[in-house]
Amino acid sequence: MSRLVVLLLCLLALLPVSAQNKQAAIASAHPLATQAGWEILQQGGNAFDAAVAVSAALAVVEPAGSGLGGGGFWLLHRASDGHQIMLDGREMAPGKAHADMYLDEQGQFNPKRSLNGPLAAGIPGTPAALDYLSQHFGTLPLSTTLQPAIDYARQGFEISESYQRLAGFRESVLKQSPDAARIFLDRGKVPAIGHRVVQTDLANTLKAIAKKGKAGFYQGETAQKMVDSVQANGGIWTLDDLDNYRVKVRSPVKGVYQGYQITSAALPSSGGMVLTQALNILEHFDLAGADPVQQQHWVIEAMRLAYRDRNRYLGDADFVSVPRQMTSKAYARQQAKKINNHRASQSQPIGQARSAGENTTHFSIIDAEGNRVAATLSINYPFGSGFVAQGTGVLLNDEMDDFSAKSGSANAYGLVGTEANAIAPYKRPLSSMSPTFFENQNKLMIIGTPGGSRIISMVLLGLLDFVEGKTAEQIVSAPRYHHQHWPDQVQIENSGFSNDTIAALEQRGHQIKQLSRRYGDMQVILQDKHSGQVVAASDPRGEGLAEVRMVRP
Ligand code: DON
Repeated sequence: MSRLVVLLLCLLALLPVSAQNKQAAIASAHPLATQAGWEILQQGGNAFDAAVAVSAALAVVEPAGSGLGGGGFWLLHRASDGHQIMLDGREMAPGKAHADMYLDEQGQFNPKRSLNGPLAAGIPGTPAALDYLSQHFGTLPLSTTLQPAIDYARQGFEISESYQRLAGFRESVLKQSPDAARIFLDRGKVPAIGHRVVQTDLANTLKAIAKKGKAGFYQGETAQKMVDSVQANGGIWTLDDLDNYRVKVRSPVKGVYQGYQITSAALPSSGGMVLTQALNILEHFDLAGADPVQQQHWVIEAMRLAYRDRNRYLGDADFVSVPRQMTSKAYARQQAKKINNHRASQSQPIGQARSAGENTTHFSIIDAEGNRVAATLSINYPFGSGFVAQGTGVLLNDEMDDFSAKSGSANAYGLVGTEANAIAPYKRPLSSMSPTFFENQNKLMIIGTPGGSRIISMVLLGLLDFVEGKTAEQIVSAPRYHHQHWPDQVQIENSGFSNDTIAALEQRGHQIKQLSRRYGDMQVILQDKHSGQVVAASDPRGEGLAEVRMVRP
């Protein structure tokens, strides 16, 4: 060894451990969003700064899934003191909203009104959440962390097969909004793959937020333009609604399954409570010692029970009281007794299902210091309400459809709710988005996915696979199945299950519904807590990018 090398090694050994490079990871649903996160980490930002950059970039390059006109949940873990919170940037019903606003003269629910156009839009939460995240957890200004998104909006991005498919699904609605048609279609038609979507108005709105923080969106020129445009097109937003929007800081739902700590989304997301109840129930069955069909039977029955309580009892806890024992071990013991080991139980009907949509987005980040973010963001349906507020580039959500517009009627995901999730002014609609940390002393997983009502069952399967020791790639690729209590059917991905498995489940009394496509876009990061080694994987069903890099803390 040369003297120079020895000298260098000695110098390296003298450096404090914290100054040595460590692994960081970003997994998101779009390569440009992952890249935006790296740009910020390389400039010395932490995971929270990177989360601002990734959220904003996704708002630009994956407009069908999330955006400034939507909301989401950011689950945070600060490494320095272990502080964990869930930032609730969920949309809020406007002040003029009321329980019957989507019913026609005959009192029937009209889903078109809660899905299409500005009447379907709640007051967005994402811009306020990004400002809060940056101010309270970040180290860099919004003018730095929003810059990649501003560049993407200005320069444009090339559309992919999935953009094309989703734009096709929402074409007729996008056409009704002149700004949406101009930005997201190409001369009134679904664009060809490779077509560049340039969003100059959105770049200007992002710049206003970069300069003034949340006031750049909820007050002043942008707010006025949004309210004028919404009201001119049948919506009910007011300037006060925008000005009064606040992010809420929630304590995450926590539970323990076989020694693993689960930390997940709190109300108004049902995710954490449903996951915790399902895991508590499953602790009463020997999954590891059973064959795959027996395991699936128990998991389906646990999903049925936990989703039933979701549909029946859950809503925004700032408005309704919810039975907190839903996540207790004692309650799960009672619930587990309802499961017959060999026969499917039957759900009691409470409504009709409608077809499920496909969108929303999730990303996971860990930085070299061990700060973590799991964030699931949404504008609900593909391209949200399909309405762009004139002159702002902001595509509005249709998250009002996540309320139970009429007790017993199903929403777009076939979910049936009760008064607990009825519409009321300033209330937040019940969500299934489930950004989650799952860990024991040895290993950690950061996980989440889009997929409407199927989000929770996907994350549940991911947690069980992690306990079984599966790799990140195996977890995101595994075939998926889902039961949400009603409709009483097990939805399975096409090509995921053998005919023998399907026959064996049917023999137990399960109604199997084979779906025409695969679903979800899961983004997973795993960490070995002893070696610090990190791996990441992005769902092969999507077009995302998961990467691990060495960076200096
Ligand atoms: O908050 C929710 O539960 C829904 N708005 C999420 C929608 C969704 O994931 C659509 N994706 N397939």
